[in-house]
Amino acid sequence: MSARILDGVPLADAIRAEVAAAVKRYAGDGRKPGLAVVIVGENPASQVYVKAKGKACEEAGMHSETVRLSERTTEAELLATVERLNRDPAIHGFLVQLPLPSHINGERVLNAIDPAKDVDGFHPVNVGRLSIGDPTALRPATPFGVQQMLIRSGIETRGAHAVIVGRSNIVGKPMASLLIQPGTGGDATVTVCHSKTRDLPAVCRSADILVVAMGKPEFVTADMVRPGATVIDVGINRVDDASQPKGYRIVGDVAYAPVAEVAGAITPVPGGVGRMTIAMLLQNTLQAFQQAAGRA
Ligand code: GUN
Repeated sequence: MSARILDGVPLADAIRAEVAAAVKRYAGDGRKPGLAVVIVGENPASQVYVKAKGKACEEAGMHSETVRLSERTTEAELLATVERLNRDPAIHGFLVQLPLPSHINGERVLNAIDPAKDVDGFHPVNVGRLSIGDPTALRPATPFGVQQMLIRSGIETRGAHAVIVGRSNIVGKPMASLLIQPGTGGDATVTVCHSKTRDLPAVCRSADILVVAMGKPEFVTADMVRPGATVIDVGINRVDDASQPKGYRIVGDVAYAPVAEVAGAITPVPGGVGRMTIAMLLQNTLQAFQQAAGRA
């Protein structure tokens, strides 16, 4: 059997087009959603992501600002930038790209972001709102993108056993919150696995929907997947490969080729979940803008 490939490119393009169409309608009234991205230091992967976020924002017709701060920026200076963006009326959403240099307390920085502008959905207020099913919650872009992929690909979550491998605050935990909520793209029975889970392969094999977000290249093998299951690979890992021009290639947390022989549907890496993340960030910026307008 060969799995159906869940291509993130057309799905993400559709969401980006929907956001752009909404932005265009507001432009008629002279109003424009604005997104700012703050990056501290020179982490190469972060540089790539931040550039892509700014470009996508401009392509959607939004106002975009990228704040580049040096590796030696102090926590107080970063907090001052956060405060400035909290007050800036042209900015409806912003995020501070992670990871931060080790001399900065990331939790203090995230807690300083106005929850109304927290388009990453990492502030405790948004985590709480998501957990209680408040529709005004800003939802973390990666798990929100996974949920949209499932909905838009016609994969039924209602009553399904969803197994999430990885318990991060960015993916695993919010993914669980989204999938257990009542309604479309929810109503699943959710199990969250992590490094201390007993007999992880057996738990994975019980999944109708397996979401893998643990950051270990090609960790999930074919014997860990039930025939016909949907496999969502959130991993993005660089592995050395001398045959490639750059000396590395990008692989997910799932051994793609053998798992695709067993699964019913699978996301590729790259071109799967990664494409959805930026689309959902734009969607979140539009939501933050609309909610701010509703309060004005
Ligand atoms: N680093 C990796 N993923 C993310 C994300 O979704 N948001 C931010 N701010 N940093 C990240």
